[in-house]
Amino acid sequence: MTNVLFVCLGNICRSPMAEAMMRDLIAQAHLTSQITVDSAGTSAQVGSQPHEGTQQILATHHIPATGLVSRQITTQDFVNNDYIIGMDAMNLRDLRAMAPQGTAAKIYGINDVLPDKKGQPIADPWYTHNFNATYNDLSAALPAWLTFIQKQ
Ligand code: 4NP
Repeated sequence: MTNVLFVCLGNICRSPMAEAMMRDLIAQAHLTSQITVDSAGTSAQVGSQPHEGTQQILATHHIPATGLVSRQITTQDFVNNDYIIGMDAMNLRDLRAMAPQGTAAKIYGINDVLPDKKGQPIADPWYTHNFNATYNDLSAALPAWLTFIQKQ
């Protein structure tokens, strides 16, 4: 079993969108029994549903958004997950500061699997209001993540 965790700041905009989209990709690839997906926030709006903008864009693309509730990342997440994928430089700084010994190598940036976009963040739609751009960025990165994970 491979466990993937997407992380952003609030766990209401980017990382729940990534979770829902990746779960959908995994289902389409018939890999649901092999790869789990979850999301969390470094400063989560604990208990909140995804932002209206995230819910809308997932609905537009017919991607199920059930079971997405904001939660705070825990120390145990670093132990339980194989890939801990942050959305921007602040997420990565916070994750590295929080990582228990021996787990920092599991931390990745969302675009690390795209050679032409490696190291680039996914802009926070909380500030940009551009959920479409977030969706498009994730649409580019997530299939590359699935390929990368399957090769490991
Ligand atoms: P997210 O966006 O990290 O993509 O979920 C944000 C959500 C909430 C806040 C900031 C960013 N906030 O400041 O409450």
